[in-house]
Amino acid sequence: MKIAVSGKGGTGKTFLAGMLAARFAAGGHPVIAIDADPSPNLALTLGLSSDEAGTIVPIAENDDLIRLKTGADYSGIFRLNFTVDDIIEHHTVLTPSGAHLMVMGTVRSMGSGCTCPAHAVVKALLRHLIVERDEVVILDMDAGIEHLGRATAEHVDTMLVVSDANRRSLEVARTICRMAAASAIRQVGLVGNRITGPSQEHALRTFAEDNGIALLALIPFDQGVSENGISGAPIDEEHSSAIHEIARLSCLLETGSRTENR
Ligand SMILES: Nc1ncnc2c1ncn2[C@@H]1O[C@H](COP(=O)(O)OP(=O)(O)OP(=O)(O)O)[C@@H](O)[C@H]1O
Ligand SMILES: [Mg+2]
Repeated sequence: MKIAVSGKGGTGKTFLAGMLAARFAAGGHPVIAIDADPSPNLALTLGLSSDEAGTIVPIAENDDLIRLKTGADYSGIFRLNFTVDDIIEHHTVLTPSGAHLMVMGTVRSMGSGCTCPAHAVVKALLRHLIVERDEVVILDMDAGIEHLGRATAEHVDTMLVVSDANRRSLEVARTICRMAAASAIRQVGLVGNRITGPSQEHALRTFAEDNGIALLALIPFDQGVSENGISGAPIDEEHSSAIHEIARLSCLLETGSRTENR
């Protein structure tokens, strides 16, 4: 399973990516959760403390690693025939959730034409993780649609697009779904989040139907999750309606992937 989580800013991408990663890890899958957001905070959702998270050097900002791999020097010439499998071993962190975390970091001006050494390493690494590895890989993407322009997630098999009932979030979701559907990504699905009641549920269902998008889950607004975001107080997972719905989604994704691999 190779899953990318995208959507408008603040809709709950990191929460969903983190909880899915934890869920799959608890189910016995080896999991690599990738923070592909330029302002990374997946670490906290996976149970690391702020201090621990602060010690992680993002791949794109690890100059020694980039130089070691690409041989980049001031002449601007660098190699492209480097290996990346060893990076996974040395640059992922095992988190309390059971999932391994890799933080990609920001590649400045990472447009599609960008050919800087850090971009070359991040691109090769993502490709390797998504195409060649057997682990469950979950990508927490940056907000909006830029990552689609960069084709960061072009090889994933599932793109989850998170949206609340807000029209602006749904507009972004529509654009992402269209772009993802036109790419090689096999499954694109909408995940409603922070849903406060039947009228919001209805808005999400109608939106999905009108746009021919599969609605995979409706995650309710959960006071405990909200508190966790504010104060860091632990979530009572057993009694969390949001976690229950994410558990259901994880089963759906797992079943779908098993059927596909048959
Ligand atoms: N179902 C939910 N119920 C209540 N609060 C939620 C829910 N889902 C997410 N939140 C809260 O909403 C806030 C934003 O969530 P999150 O950081 O996951 O969004 P994001 O899409 O990753 O944001 P960004 O675009 O800034 O990366 C967090 O404080 C989180 O705890
Ligand atoms: Mg986020």
